[in-house]
Amino acid sequence: MNFIDPFAEQYADKYSDKLDDLLKEIVDFTVATHPKSHMLSGAVQGKFLEMVATMVKPSRVLEIGTFTGFSALCLAKGLAPDGILHTIEMRVEDAQTAIRFFDKSGMKDKIKLHIGNATEIIPSLDESWDLVFIDADKVSYIDYYELTLPRVKSGGWILADNVLFHGQVLNEVIVGKNPKAIHAFNEHVSKDERTEKAMLTIRDGLTLIRKK
Ligand SMILES: C[S@@+](CC[C@H](N)C(=O)[O-])C[C@H]1O[C@@H](n2cnc3c(N)ncnc32)[C@H](O)[C@@H]1O
Repeated sequence: MNFIDPFAEQYADKYSDKLDDLLKEIVDFTVATHPKSHMLSGAVQGKFLEMVATMVKPSRVLEIGTFTGFSALCLAKGLAPDGILHTIEMRVEDAQTAIRFFDKSGMKDKIKLHIGNATEIIPSLDESWDLVFIDADKVSYIDYYELTLPRVKSGGWILADNVLFHGQVLNEVIVGKNPKAIHAFNEHVSKDERTEKAMLTIRDGLTLIRKK
């Protein structure tokens, strides 16, 4: 995932807040036990997610792609006092890991984890979203955007991760189903007049989208 200058990333890491003990435990456990630990949002991105949520003070957050619970706990830190974060994970084993960390966090009553396919679960959630974080299978990003946008409040936010897809979307000829899907998503969002957007070159790319 290192297409951004690793020295710049190390510098950003050095001058950003450090992870709290539980987030560090999640990272250490995931790196030690999970073959796909690279899927974790890093420390800087985690702090950024927390700060966005703190600015928005959302009552309802939807996360698509829980993995081991790292980003859900970052986002949950910014919830309004009555806020709830829904998060969706397809892989039972990862969901069980996340539940274990949510239980330890003191925020378990504010987090509802749904196990299953996000395209089926999203339409079943009767909520209006203040903030949505899209971070699951790349080929479904356009579906996730279209499924959630009608239920995002006016002035509400969507964050989409991995929008630079390891730099592969920058190639003149884009090869592979995931980079192609992400490029199609970026084109789709950029042309959508229902929203405003800014693509940030943080980590693997993060687009911040605001519903008008
Ligand atoms: C990049 S990881 C999420 C990382 C997490 N947000 C974090 O920052 O720590 C993507 C997750 O989405 C899950 N996923 C992939 N396709 C899915 C689907 N159709 N429905 C629900 N979850 C899915 C994967 O199992 C994986 O755990």
